[in-house]
Amino acid sequence: LASVEVDVSSLTPGSSLIVKWRGKPVVVRNRTEKEMKDGEAVSLSDLKDPIARNANLPSDAPATDANRTTPGKEAWMVMVQVCTHLGCIPLGQEGDFGGWFCPCHGSQYDTAGRIRKGPAPENMAIPVFKFVSDTKLLIG
Ligand code: FES
Repeated sequence: LASVEVDVSSLTPGSSLIVKWRGKPVVVRNRTEKEMKDGEAVSLSDLKDPIARNANLPSDAPATDANRTTPGKEAWMVMVQVCTHLGCIPLGQEGDFGGWFCPCHGSQYDTAGRIRKGPAPENMAIPVFKFVSDTKLLIG
């Protein structure tokens, strides 16, 4: 399917679900306040990849926490959960940065899915998506 509709009504803060989109796992996570604050506190100069990698934004948009989400819905991470090193599936809410940890070669991502440590070169990709209502998301 080119697009997939996701019902997010069951996702309380701190919970996630994974849907398959174009053969890839896409995580939808309702972040906690702490995860958002941790993400916002990171300065761009500390990022290995300073580009947002968000298909909804210009290709040179900076990787601020807000630019990794969507306006008005900053708690929500919608992200292709595939490591940008060699394509393994990272584990959620693991590692030094409280985001994602890739068990293959140890790449660590923060709560906004930005690469912080390890061999992966880029932040995990944000696909085209939008909220069509408070509880429904359209990916693709
Ligand atoms: Fe994730 Fe290598 S594939 S660190």
